[in-house]
Amino acid sequence: MIKLGVIFGGMSTENEVSVKSATSVMNNLDKNKYEVFPIYIDKQGNWFEYEGNKPIENIIKYLKNMDVIFPVLHGLYGEDGTIQGMLELLKIPYVGCGIIASSVGMDKSYTKIIFEKAKINQTKHIYIKDYAGEKMTIVEDDLDEKKINIDEIINISNEKLKFPLFIKPCNSGSSVGVNKAENNEDLKKAILEAFKYDSKVLIEQGIKGKEVECAVLGNSRIGVEASRVGEILSAEDFYTFDAKYENQDSKTVIPASITDEQQEEIRKLAVKAFKALDGNGLSRVDFFVEEGTGKVFLNEINTMPGFTNISMYPKLMEDFGYSYSSLLDKLIEIAMKKK
Ligand SMILES: Nc1ncnc2c1ncn2[C@@H]1O[C@H](COP(=O)(O)OP(=O)(O)O)[C@@H](O)[C@H]1O
Ligand SMILES: [Mg+2]
Repeated sequence: MIKLGVIFGGMSTENEVSVKSATSVMNNLDKNKYEVFPIYIDKQGNWFEYEGNKPIENIIKYLKNMDVIFPVLHGLYGEDGTIQGMLELLKIPYVGCGIIASSVGMDKSYTKIIFEKAKINQTKHIYIKDYAGEKMTIVEDDLDEKKINIDEIINISNEKLKFPLFIKPCNSGSSVGVNKAENNEDLKKAILEAFKYDSKVLIEQGIKGKEVECAVLGNSRIGVEASRVGEILSAEDFYTFDAKYENQDSKTVIPASITDEQQEEIRKLAVKAFKALDGNGLSRVDFFVEEGTGKVFLNEINTMPGFTNISMYPKLMEDFGYSYSSLLDKLIEIAMKKK
């Protein structure tokens, strides 16, 4: 039996989402193969043996007893390289991306820098940070920094981008803190709102069109497989937290209603993006296909995508030929072979 620690919850805005993902994972693990140790981290960062809700006194000792860890954590302190760094130090194999892919993939401004280098098409954007008093810092394309006030940012945005815009905290997930702006008033409000969640914020050109996603599995060494491309039919104006998790009218469709050429283009881009970040195990790569032009834009990469039975990642992989349980086996196998 393989001793498998499943870590979930976590100190992020996506704590509850992680609990849902981990519950699905644990329900689908083959109990003949794995002795499962559910480990819950609460929002304050306390660790518990989930069964019996017993605090874990010596976390290092507890983890060292495992053969492999599956960190089913979304967002900060989970999907951002921090827990991956701890597991590297402890020399415990773990499912999913390593430190670099996790941390770069979590921070939308740094993801953009790497994907620019890879010449992958992305939305035009403005990167601002460190809001204090009336001032903030704008980071230019060459990474030079300039202190300016919010009205100047709005002027720059009006010159460079066209409404609608999307404003997001760089470390967002599950659409928390993400807002759409149709005018300067919305924009100002959305910037201030985004700064409540993070010291770094992106203002992005809004793309009208289809929202599509591709699941990838593997790594550069063993090869990367890409699923077909699926489509999000959001029940709301955009794919908000509510549209993702609460509104039953949101739908996902496989395959997306795009041309075969677009399917192929997106699958190739998903693999390229994953490799560009030095990805391992899994990721879901999200794109927009612009109405009218058919142009493809990479939106973001999720190194620990939602993992409930009805989440896009497992559904795309099921469509590709991996049942939920065999997908888990494969991910754990990749994790254990790495060392
Ligand atoms: N540039 C954009 N154009 C159109 N819609 C966008 C854009 N950026 C974000 N959105 C919408 O907002 C949602 C959340 O933004 P996203 O960047 O995916 O953040 P998160 O990491 O929170 O999922 C997307 O699923 C999409 O519906
Ligand atoms: Mg997203």
